[in-house]
Amino acid sequence: MTLLVTGGAGFIGSNFIFYMMKEHPQYRVVCLDKLTYAGNLATLAPVMGKGNFRFVRADICDREAVFRIFAEERPEIVVNFAAESHVDRSIENPGVFLQTNILGTQTLMDACRKYGVQRFHQVSTDEVYGDLPLDRPDLFFTEETPIHASSPYSASKASADLLVQAYCRTFGLPATISRCSNNYGPYQFPEKLIPLMVANALADKPLPVYGKGENVRDWLYVEDHCKAIDLILHQGRVGEIYNIGGHNEMRNIDIVKLICKAVGKPESLITFVADRKGHDLRYAIDPSKMGNELGWQPETMFNEGIYRTIQWYVDNRAWWEDILSGAYRERQDACANGI
Ligand code: NAD
Ligand code: DAU
Repeated sequence: MTLLVTGGAGFIGSNFIFYMMKEHPQYRVVCLDKLTYAGNLATLAPVMGKGNFRFVRADICDREAVFRIFAEERPEIVVNFAAESHVDRSIENPGVFLQTNILGTQTLMDACRKYGVQRFHQVSTDEVYGDLPLDRPDLFFTEETPIHASSPYSASKASADLLVQAYCRTFGLPATISRCSNNYGPYQFPEKLIPLMVANALADKPLPVYGKGENVRDWLYVEDHCKAIDLILHQGRVGEIYNIGGHNEMRNIDIVKLICKAVGKPESLITFVADRKGHDLRYAIDPSKMGNELGWQPETMFNEGIYRTIQWYVDNRAWWEDILSGAYRERQDACANGI
């Protein structure tokens, strides 16, 4: 079985590769990644030398390169994590989000059609549903909730989802889609809330909280997301959408205060800054389909996972300091050109 993972040098994709190589040691795993600013080859060091792992630097929008890799590897399973993933960047520069997240997905699916796969899995997001009001804790996103994107990022992910459904119906592509809530864990790029706040707090820098910090996100430990995708690949039904989340809603301000406490820094570092444009208020996933159909349940509770995660960033300063200094890009550009 050959598994092609796109975007595997990023946060969730790398954790997924580690998970799959542990759970399915007989699989060959091929990682295709462009190594944008968000991709870090150093993250994949634990698997780089393994005989059943291959890294290929390529852009999912590059039809020639993608088709060549499919011809060489003939993957049975393709999981697409490759994306521009940061909402704030999509507000600054939407174009690359449409290019990678929509057209890149199309290119991958065209290759899947040409070479034939058992499964194409699109890693989507709960952000395609838009947001929920703060004063209606009884409301949750289900798979039937209408698409209602707020940012160029979520609009691009929603567009890709529609395209995946169209390829499934029109061409019979054996596809599935998962829509997960906010992930946290090791190897998350330090522009996202949790690693950014840990890194800033450790450096005694201000902790920029958007608006009043009252927006709510539904946090899931990254390995629980990986396990859910593994279940969907092997037991999920083609043509289906699966929501993934752990019923763990937290206000941003409470997460930031928790981080201050955990690393022994004063809350006076918290600085309220201008709100994100179009800022989604609340995300909350109803994961009952994953539970009822596939028996999935999150295993890592937030109280355990968040401290493990904070400790990981404390113990792995070199990983994120390398990113903040920009050194990681020079090094990987030098060594990855020949891959
Ligand atoms: P990330 O930004 O950490 O990683 C993205 C990876 O994709 C990087 O390695 C980058 O180099 C690669 N990439 C970007 N453009 C590419 C291109 N054109 N060709 C090939 N590779 C390219 O992202 P993440 O947080 O790990 O998210 C992965 C996926 O999961 C995304 O599709 C995202 O929409 C989705 N998702 C993320 C979360 C979350 O909380 N982070 C939650 C739900 C869904
Ligand atoms: O819900 C899933 C989504 O979660 C994924 O699809 C996205 O790829 C991922 O980036 C994430 O999106 P968010 O916008 O929710 O994550 P982010 O870490 O950027 O922000 C989390 C919350 O924290 C959000 O309400 C904005 C706020 N925030 C963020 C940053 C970076 C701040 O208050 N200050 C900050 O500096």
